[in-house]
Amino acid sequence: MNLIFMGPPGAGKGTQARQVAVKYGIPQLSTGDMLRSAVKAGSEVGLKAKAAMESGGLVTDDIVIGIIGDRIGESDCASGFILDGFPRTVAQAEALEKLLAERSMKIDSVIDITADNEALVARITGRSTCSKCGEGYHKQHKAPAKDGVCDKCGGALATRADDNEETVRNRLEVYEAQTAPVIGFYKDSGSFKTVDGMQNMDDVFASLCNILG
Ligand code: AP5
Ligand code: MG
Repeated sequence: MNLIFMGPPGAGKGTQARQVAVKYGIPQLSTGDMLRSAVKAGSEVGLKAKAAMESGGLVTDDIVIGIIGDRIGESDCASGFILDGFPRTVAQAEALEKLLAERSMKIDSVIDITADNEALVARITGRSTCSKCGEGYHKQHKAPAKDGVCDKCGGALATRADDNEETVRNRLEVYEAQTAPVIGFYKDSGSFKTVDGMQNMDDVFASLCNILG
């Protein structure tokens, strides 16, 4: 099962992709997570991506298309994958079609998770993530039992460099200008579905499972 999770920053793509990955036994491919790892490692890709990510802009298409092209060719993607945060421009969507055709693959579902902008700002500015296992937390909706410590693995919780209010508002503008048009690319294919991301997390997950079967 090959899936695309779309939606603005903070819609819940990562939160839901992690759970769907476990339930269906397919990997979550988050370009944001991959780019943050590259920045942390100080690799060539990381050095090129850092400034755009910190300002809330998009990293260039050639970089992310290269990353995804390599990743979907790995063996753990043979039975499916969840693209979380890719494609984010129409050019990326077109390149993905080509990459999939070359491998005789296709996308089964494109799911757009929607939410209101003010809720998104509140979600992102309250977010933290475990630096060890990747579990996500939120100071209001999903607080850890012990401040700064992951409930699941005891790892330290970290806040992303682009999760301050000014950058979040820029990310939302970039989403409207460059990523919302990708919806038009998929809308008329039978595989496009929308899920209300303003529901609580369990209900969003239930809605996704209903669609995915
Ligand atoms: P990326 O890491 O993809 O960030 P994003 O799209 O801005 O999305 P987020 O990860 O912030 O939100 P999310 O939808 O995953 O929400 P989450 O589940 O965490 O990209 C970062 C940067 O990398 C980009 O700005 C760009 O520079 C670059 N980049 C990445 N991909 C690229 C590409 N393809 N092309 C070019 N550049 C690229 O949830 C958010 C919070 O809300 C959490 O605290 C969570 O607990 C909480 N929450 C989730 N669901 C709910 C709910 N239903 N109710 C209440 N709270 C909820
Ligand atoms: Mg995410």
